This record gives sequence, structure tokens and C-alpha cells, in this order.
Amino acid sequence: MEDLLNILRPEERIALQLRELYEHRHFHLFRLSSFEEYDLYLQNKAFLTNSDPITFTGNNGRLMALNPDVTLSIVKNTPIGEARKVYYNEDVYRHDRKDGEYKRINQIGLEMIGKIDAESEAQVVQLAMESLAVAGKGALDISHIGLVEDIVAQFAPYGLQKRALMALQTKSPHTMRAVCKQAGLSQDLTLALTRLTTVSGSFREVAVEVESLVTPFPKARQAMVELIALYDQLQAHCPAAATIDLRLDFSFVNDTDYYSGLLFQGFLEGIPHAVLFGGRYDHLLKAHGAQQGAIGFGMYLNGIDRQSHRQEAVTNQYLDIALPKGRMGKAIYLLLVEAGLVIAGLFDDSRKLIFQDDRHKIRFFLVKPSDVDQYVDRGAADIGVVGLDVLMEGETDVLEVLDLKIGRCKMVVAGKADFQADSTRPLRVATKYPQITRHYYNDIRQSIELIELHGSIELAPLLDLSDVIVDIVETGTTLKENHLVVLQEFLESSARLIVNPVSWRFKEAAIQDFIQKVGDNL
Ligand code: PRP
Repeated sequence: MEDLLNILRPEERIALQLRELYEHRHFHLFRLSSFEEYDLYLQNKAFLTNSDPITFTGNNGRLMALNPDVTLSIVKNTPIGEARKVYYNEDVYRHDRKDGEYKRINQIGLEMIGKIDAESEAQVVQLAMESLAVAGKGALDISHIGLVEDIVAQFAPYGLQKRALMALQTKSPHTMRAVCKQAGLSQDLTLALTRLTTVSGSFREVAVEVESLVTPFPKARQAMVELIALYDQLQAHCPAAATIDLRLDFSFVNDTDYYSGLLFQGFLEGIPHAVLFGGRYDHLLKAHGAQQGAIGFGMYLNGIDRQSHRQEAVTNQYLDIALPKGRMGKAIYLLLVEAGLVIAGLFDDSRKLIFQDDRHKIRFFLVKPSDVDQYVDRGAADIGVVGLDVLMEGETDVLEVLDLKIGRCKMVVAGKADFQADSTRPLRVATKYPQITRHYYNDIRQSIELIELHGSIELAPLLDLSDVIVDIVETGTTLKENHLVVLQEFLESSARLIVNPVSWRFKEAAIQDFIQKVGDNL
């Protein structure tokens, strides 16, 4: 038997151990067919955020989809009114919108459908913690949709919910301060909401502060009462509580339409993204006509065997920082020296790309400015410094924790001084920022023909390659020397400190200290 176990890949071993665990707790294996009618996903589009189902044509010309998710199929296959306590281990298939890849994801998880009380919630969260503990050293963040909704609701009268939610998701206090100002909220509310965007940590350490921060928000207060009761129950009964850090954090929100209460997300040390997703999803049952409660989670097993990649850096507790090559990188380095965070004289004029400060346990990587967000997103660096323009263009899932207020520039539409729009055809726009440009023209509902270039954008209108350009302007010299003018300014950019969400969970003290000291020296 031991020999047999030895030939299993790490993810297969973990899956077997988890199946044993779930059986032991009286969950039954649920087997699915690998596909459903596409219609099911069409009706529940919001359930899949950044990906699309992979479709094919079935018998009778019906459009089918490979299962992109398990929960939806389980709900669909549960007769109304029937209770379920099931687990699964299935492959799901998705077309990732961001990188355009087709993906097979091995998922294991469980669902409980029926009458869900506080005890059942605790049982499911406990199993989520135990599942992470089987795979390695981890952290489970808990949150509550009631709390998130209450915060976002403060901005509803001003139509600023989306930006407030984004501030929470990216742990961005400067964005929250800006939306509070725009909404004209009082100083006390602004302080509380800004702190709620960054507050995060072991439950027992931060719960008291969060309780006092949510005093003005009744739904959030009630949510905290539920979370504290859950925490107490887990402390009393959960053996995994010793190895899995149970944390409070409000930056992750999956889909507000389906989740109806408790939310949680799990992380494993050395894997640069969340691996476990779960929560209470009564709204999904309601959408299928059932008046029952439901809670569950899924854990992604792909890549769990690659865990060792960053383990060494994590255990050494070095902070890895991706700096943009050039002027901005040097300016940031000097700022860090001034803040006493690194030793002076580390950078020389060599062509080295890695610099290490063993005294402060910091390592710098010098990377192309437009690549910084990729290094941080994929966990090759914990922290990075990047212009807001690059950050918005990259659409990565990093935390944007500090506005460094240097490297200021504006994103503008520019063209010839005598530019006249031709309303009989789409506007031809040249840019090296295709995503930002698309979003901008989408927002103002103007159709365009986008011409993607990689530099010397100013040439495009001069040679009639385009009508206008979308580009950054710093001093305005390049535009002036090429006889172009700003037609519309629409975004102010400056350098931002960004953090990988998993590094935040496992190196939180060092990262918070770093942010604090950099912020104090601005
Ligand atoms: C950027 C931008 C403008 C210029 C604006 O180009 O695309 O061309 O800087 O700066 P200014 O307002 O101070 O003149 P960059 O220097 O990055 O060169 P590139 O065109 O090769 O991308």
C-alpha cells in the first residue's frame, strides 16, 4: 500500500486524504457528468467572474458547456426542498478571459444544502481549515457579505459603490479617502472606512478593533456578532486552528449577488494566489426556486506541488521588491534609504539585476517598469513600485496599498490643434495603453478603432495613422515639440506601492511595517 501511495502526485495524495476526511465527517461523494447545457451558465453568468465556459454543440444542435464550476451543477441537480451533504473531486474547465488560456482545474470541495445553522457553518469552516492543513502551512481569511455591503452602501446615494468596493478589494486607503471626500462623508466616517480597507490580521488580534470601527454601520455590526460567535466555536473545537491562521480580512469579495453571509478564502504558503474559496450562498438557491440555506467551498489542487518554489524566500522572511529600472527605481531606493529600510550604496552602476541587503532582509529586482505588476501578481516579488497607468493596463489582482505621490503624470487624449471629430466613422485612436483606452471610450460610449503601438505614439496623428492618441503626459514637452495638444485629460497617475495578496497574508508584519515607514517618509 505504501508503494502505491508513493507513486501518487502530491495533489492526488492530498485529494485522497481529503476524501477520507470528508467521508469520516459524513459527507457523501457526488459524481457529476463533465458537461451541462450552456443555458445553465448563461442564466448564472455572474457566478463565474473572470472566465467563460468552454462550449461545444451537442445532439440536436444544443449548445453544451464543459463544467466550469461544480457548485452550480450540484445546485441544479438537487431537487427543491431536498437536503444535501456532499463532497466532490472533479476537473472543471474554463476559458480565462485575462490570459486567453483554456484551463483544466482539479477541484475538491464540499457543499451543504438544507437547514444551515451556526453549527453547520462552523463545521464547514472547520473542514476548510483542515483541508488547508492537509496541504501545508496556511491561512484562512473570513469575512461577511453583510459587512462589505454595508460599507459599500454608504456610497450608493453618490453612485460611488464600485470605486468604494475597489478600494476595499485592493486595500487602498488613498482610494477610500478619495471616494469619502467625493461623497462628502464626515471625518469620523472617513477615518473608520479608510481603516476598514487596510485592517487585517489574526482574528483574535483585530476583531476588537473591527468591532469598534463598524459601530456606525448596523448590518456590519450584526455581521461581526456572527463572525465572533463562529470564531469562538472554532477555537473550542477545531484542531486545525493550531496550524492554520484564522484571519479577518475584507479585501476579498467573490460575487455579491450569490453570497449571502459568511465568506472565506484560503491561502497556502508559497502559492501566489488564493487556493480555497467558500461561503454561504443562499441567494443561488433562491435563484433556482429553493428556500434553503447553502454553504460550501472548493479548493484548487493544481499547482499545489509547485509550492516549494517560493518556500525558501518565505521561510527566510526576506522581502522581495520589484523596482522599475531607471529614474523612478532610483528615487524609490533613495526614499527607502532615507526611511532607514535599506542600507545606502547598494546600487552600483553594474548591470546586475538583483541587489540584496542581508541586514534588513530585503532583496531588490530591477525590472522593466511595465513588467513590475506581473512579478508581483505571480508572486516572484512580494512588493513592487509601479505607475497607476501600468497597473490599470495590466489588470492584475494585486493590492494597491500606497500612493507614493512621485512620478506624477496624466493620461490624456491628444491630437492636432485643429482636430475635428468625424461622426460618420469610429474615431481612430493610437495608444500603447489598449485596456485603459477601451475602458475610457466604453465609459463615454464612443466607438473607436484602436491602433496599438509600442512607442513614439505622437507620430500617429502626424502621419494620419490615427485621429488622436491616448498617452501619458508628464512635462508636455513631447506633445509640444510635435505640435499636438491635449484634447481631454481623464486620469491622474502616480507611482503606487503594490503587494501580492498571499505575501500580505504570510509576511504581514514586515509588509505593514514597510508600508508605514515608507508612508511616513513621503
Ligand atoms: C512617454 C509618453 C510620451 C512622453 C511624455 O514616452 O509616451 O511620449 O513620455 O512625456 P513628456 O510629457 O514629459 O514629454 P516614453 O518616454 O516612455 O517613450 P516611448 O514613446 O518610447 O514609450
